[in-house]
Amino acid sequence: MKYSYCGLSGLQLPKLSLGLWHNFGLNDNYNEAKKMIQFAFEKGITHFDLANNYGPPPGSAETNFGKILKDGLMAHRDEMIISSKAGHLMWTGPYGDGSSRKNLMASINQSLKRTGLEYFDIFYSHRYDGVTPIEETMQALVDIVKQGKALYIGISKYPPAEARQAMAYLRQQQVPCLIFQDKYNMMHRNPEEGVFDVIEKEGSGFIGFSPLAQGILSDKYLNGIPADSRAANPNGFLKREQITQKVVSIVRQLNLIAEERNQSLAQMALAWALRLNVVTSLIVGTRTIEQLQDNLQALDNLNFNNDELKRINLILGGAVL
Ligand SMILES: NC(=O)c1ccc[n+]([C@@H]2O[C@H](COP(=O)([O-])OP(=O)(O)OC[C@H]3O[C@@H](n4cnc5c(N)ncnc54)[C@H](OP(=O)(O)O)[C@@H]3O)[C@@H](O)[C@H]2O)c1
Repeated sequence: MKYSYCGLSGLQLPKLSLGLWHNFGLNDNYNEAKKMIQFAFEKGITHFDLANNYGPPPGSAETNFGKILKDGLMAHRDEMIISSKAGHLMWTGPYGDGSSRKNLMASINQSLKRTGLEYFDIFYSHRYDGVTPIEETMQALVDIVKQGKALYIGISKYPPAEARQAMAYLRQQQVPCLIFQDKYNMMHRNPEEGVFDVIEKEGSGFIGFSPLAQGILSDKYLNGIPADSRAANPNGFLKREQITQKVVSIVRQLNLIAEERNQSLAQMALAWALRLNVVTSLIVGTRTIEQLQDNLQALDNLNFNNDELKRINLILGGAVL
């Protein structure tokens, strides 16, 4: 595994991290989930990304992760970076959603209980809710660190202006923002339009989620929608309608470049998203050990020549997912 320092901090993160949004809930295959987490850790994937609402049902990914830790991995707690988040709908009523101090404080206590952890390494505000003052959310994060419930804090999906404001507040409180988490992949390049600038100026790290566009940036949808894929899963966030002819045509063209590079398309998509120094790590969300093995091999070839980058840009054109 290759590791990078997270922004200006002293914390190193693996280039590939494992996320538990899908595939680790109560409805998923627990034995495969356990094997994937153990395998990931053996391969140097030290970072596991959770949130209060991951499942389904919400909370079950944290509960399962806690069980897997208890089953042996807890002995390695000091070798792991475990994150969780609060900010999306988790329980009914006015306090189970959004970025209020009330929600964050209640939520981290619930997440610690579900996972059986004494602390999270990173705790995030999952989103800017458009209502809660930035100072309220950031002060809650600062206090969470002061209470020893998290070592570092991060923010996710904040628009660039609000991210700048949040990071300035955190810096003033001497609990700097460790990391910014946002969607980043070949078909979703928004962080290039503002977020990366803020991060570089503030010295935060960046971790990209959905680096394979939930599986679209692999060869699985080239000939239809496989029954075991996320697009076919009624609980999945990816919808069949998103696998359009235009998307498949782009993926086919990208696949040809991946073949020339002797990489799977998934490997090339990961290498591409890691090409910028500002990207500390990517969170992959695998369903099987084989997918994880495939993705790990991306790290064997992270270099692109100018011709490849130009051709990829041309193919992507205005592709937006
Ligand atoms: N901060 C936020 O708001 C936010 C939002 C979303 C996600 N996240 C984080 O990011 C993590 C990753 O998100 P994601 O699951 O969307 O990531 P992703 O890596 O883009 O998609 C994962 C899916 O891609 C497919 N896949 C993975 N490796 C493959 C391979 N080598 N070959 C073929 N298919 C492959 C699998 O789909 P199939 O199941 O179809 O095989 C897998 O379920 C989440 O678990 C979560 O931790 C954060």
